[in-house]
Amino acid sequence: MSSRRAKISAVGTFVPQRVVTNDDLSLELDTSDEWISTRTGIRERRIAENGEAASDLGARAARRVLEAAGVAPGELDLIIVASLSPDMLFPSTASLISGAIGAEGTAAFDLSAACTGFIYALSVANAFIVSGQADRVLVIGAEVVSKMIDWSDRATAVLFGDGAGAVLLEPAADGEEGIIGFDLGNDPAGAGELSLPAGGSRLPASEETVAERLHFLRMNGREVFRFATRVIQASSSQLLERSGHRVEDVDIFVPHQANIRIIDAAARKLGIPPEKVFSNLERYGNTSCASIPLCLDEAEREGRLKKGDLVLMVGFGGGLSWGSCLMRW
Ligand code: UT7
Repeated sequence: MSSRRAKISAVGTFVPQRVVTNDDLSLELDTSDEWISTRTGIRERRIAENGEAASDLGARAARRVLEAAGVAPGELDLIIVASLSPDMLFPSTASLISGAIGAEGTAAFDLSAACTGFIYALSVANAFIVSGQADRVLVIGAEVVSKMIDWSDRATAVLFGDGAGAVLLEPAADGEEGIIGFDLGNDPAGAGELSLPAGGSRLPASEETVAERLHFLRMNGREVFRFATRVIQASSSQLLERSGHRVEDVDIFVPHQANIRIIDAAARKLGIPPEKVFSNLERYGNTSCASIPLCLDEAEREGRLKKGDLVLMVGFGGGLSWGSCLMRW
């Protein structure tokens, strides 16, 4: 058995400058600040410019995390990008980012697990380090979901935002706990509840797919809502139990930021008090794979996340997939 452990040694994020408020959306859509803020907790989101893609945001976050860690791009062993809005189907956004940051030659691949992608990617990076296959892995959640949205569909258009967050994983020092464990899962029966149907090999782009607006994200909001509140609680409880921790031991709970009602309901079911729950959904909306690293970065800056804290992170989304991670910061 390997005794090597991994830890997150630095975090870096980037969000586009353009702020779009609920009132801005109400000018184009039959919606209101009142509906959006009470049903979701979102007040504004960042939206990328025309021509700005996931790798542009991801590369900015990557440069920031490397700068924070004092690590040169050439010292990386692997770059993993989690995204549901990659620049293209291939080459991978990770490959494009490696070129943009000057990490040519570094292994790079994308991982597809919708909004759960960041937690899945973290678990893969952890395995690379624990097994001794890598010493420095960059995990990036990079999203320009605004380009995948049907802006005439009020049910989805108001929910999402753009952004990127990157973390550097390195071996933990002797005696450091670092990443403790993961719980990952997937329910394929819910595959149709949240998807982007066309543009792949099942429904290649055609005049029909464009006319039927199948190149945009589709979601059965109510089903995903029910699924999310259930799996956040189930996955977190399992992980805590398996790793020998109690819910009271958790210092900070960082769930995927999709809806404040999901976050509050899940925290209540788990028995985590509001002061231990971190959320910045109000200002960014749902940034999919970027949401958890955006929270980690802000929580640390605000002094809400300190060295030695027990951190519980949970993601969920298309698949329908879920994943939780417990770590000592
Ligand atoms: O990253 C993971 C993926 N996403 C999620 O986790 C999202 C999970 N789901 C949700 O967050 C919620 O289900 C939504 C925010 C999407 C919707 O909230 P809801 O309370 O489940 O509303 P609903 O879908 O039941 O719709 C209630 C009403 C409907 O009108 P009627 O049929 O009651 O007359 C909708 O047409 O609200 C209407 N509605 C809106 N009204 C104003 C839906 N979207 C809007 C809107 N503005 N933007």
